[in-house]
Amino acid sequence: MSRFLPPTGTADITPDEVAEWRLLETRATEIFGLYGYGEIRTPIFEETDVFKRGLGDQTEVVQKEMYTFERGDHSFTLRPEGTAGVMRSLSGTDVMNGNEQRVFYIGPMFRGERPAAGRRRQFHQIGAENVGRVHPKLDAEVIAMYTQYLESLGITGTELLINTRGEQRDRVAGAAVLREYFAPIISKMCPDCQQRFQKNIWRILDCKVPECQDLINAAPNVTEVFTPETMAYFKEVCTALDALGIPYKVEPRLVRGLDYYVHTVFEWTHSGLGGQSAIAGGGRYEIMFPGNSKPMIGVGFASGMERLLMVREALGIKRAVSATPAPVILIPLGTAAEERCWQLLGTLRTAGIPAHVEPESGKSMKSQMRTANRLNACIAVICGENELAKDEVVVKTMATGEQSNVKIPELCQYLKNQFNA
Ligand code: HAM
Repeated sequence: MSRFLPPTGTADITPDEVAEWRLLETRATEIFGLYGYGEIRTPIFEETDVFKRGLGDQTEVVQKEMYTFERGDHSFTLRPEGTAGVMRSLSGTDVMNGNEQRVFYIGPMFRGERPAAGRRRQFHQIGAENVGRVHPKLDAEVIAMYTQYLESLGITGTELLINTRGEQRDRVAGAAVLREYFAPIISKMCPDCQQRFQKNIWRILDCKVPECQDLINAAPNVTEVFTPETMAYFKEVCTALDALGIPYKVEPRLVRGLDYYVHTVFEWTHSGLGGQSAIAGGGRYEIMFPGNSKPMIGVGFASGMERLLMVREALGIKRAVSATPAPVILIPLGTAAEERCWQLLGTLRTAGIPAHVEPESGKSMKSQMRTANRLNACIAVICGENELAKDEVVVKTMATGEQSNVKIPELCQYLKNQFNA
C-alpha cells in the first residue's frame, strides 16, 4: 500500500510527535506569562498588502516566497511570518499612544522556499512582540525572555548574535559605504547579489552563496558611520544584556532578511542544526500602515518550532511522550452484555475513566483480550451472562492477572480507587 504524502515542504505531525510540540507551547505560555505576555491569534491569511508594507517590497520573502491567491478583486497571502499580522491587528489601538502591549503567538507560517532539513514551506513559529514603546531595556528584556525559554526546554549551546540596523539616516550613510566597497567587485559576485546591488544593497550581506562569502566578510563595518545617538542606543542594549548575564556576540554583518527592522537586530544559532542554523531571530521594528499618521513600533522575535525540536533531538534530550492514558477495556460476552457494556462505556467516560469496547457483536473472549493487549489496557472488565444476572462484572488487573467480582453500580467508584491507588 502506498501512502498519499502531504505537499513537498510540509509534514504531518503524528500523535507520537504531538507531545513534543505541546511541550514547546506549554513552556512558551508559562515563561512568556512571567514577562506579562498574553496570547494573540490572528488569521492565517491577510490582505497581501499587510506583508508588502510590513516586510518590505524588496525582501526575498515578498519577492519570491509568498503564497498569494486572488478572491474577487482582493489579493490575499498565507502569512509568511507573524509580526506584520499582529501589528495590523494592534494598529489603531492605544499602542499608538505609547501604551505598551505584550503579545505572543504560536502557529503555522508559509514560505515557498526550497525544502531542506529544517527548512519547510509550512513551518511553525513561536513569537513574541512588545509593542508601543521604545527603550533599549525592552530590547534586552525580550532577549532575556527567549533565553529563559531555551533554558526551560533544556537547550544549551546556542549563540546569540546582535547588531544594530540604525535609523533611516544611518542606513543612507551605511548604504553609501557599501556601494563604494561593492561597486568594483560586484561583477565577481552571484547574479542575485548583482540584483541586490541595484535594488537593496544591504541584502548582499545576507547572501549565503559560498563564492560570495570572502568578499562579504571583507566588507567594511558600516556601523562605524552610524550616528552617535544610534550607537548609544545599541550600547545601552549591550549594557542591559551584560547586567542580565546574557552572553552575545556583536556581528556587524547581521542585517536580517526583513526590511522593517530599525536599531537592534538579533539571531540565535545552534551548531547542531547544520545548514539552517538559525533557531530564532528578531529585533526592533517600525511598520507604517495606510491611514496611520505614525508607524507601529515594537521589538520581538520568532523561533522556528521545527528547529527547536531538531536541536532537542541533536542534544539527545529525552522526548516528551504522549500522555494518552491506558484504558479500561470492557469485554462483553453475549448480546445483553454488549448492550450493558455500551451503556457503561458512557458512564465510565463521564466519570473521567478512559474506556474502550469493541464495536462488533459476538467477539470471543480471546479476541477481545488480544485487543486489550494491543491497546495496552490496564484493566479488563469482563461481563458475561452469569455475571450480568447478578448485576456484576469481573474486574481483572492486566499486569498481575488479579480478579475480583464488583457490583455494576459500584464499578465507577471501584475503578476510580484503582486508578488513584
Ligand atoms: P525570521 O528570521 O524570518 O524572522 O524567522 C524566524 C525563525 O523562523 C527563523 O530563525 C527560523 O528558526 C524559522 N524559520 C524561518 N523560515 C523557516 C522555514 N522555511 N522553515 C523552518 N523554519 C523557518 C521572522 O519571521 C520575524 N517575524 C521575527 C520577528 C518577530 N522580528 C520581530 N518580531
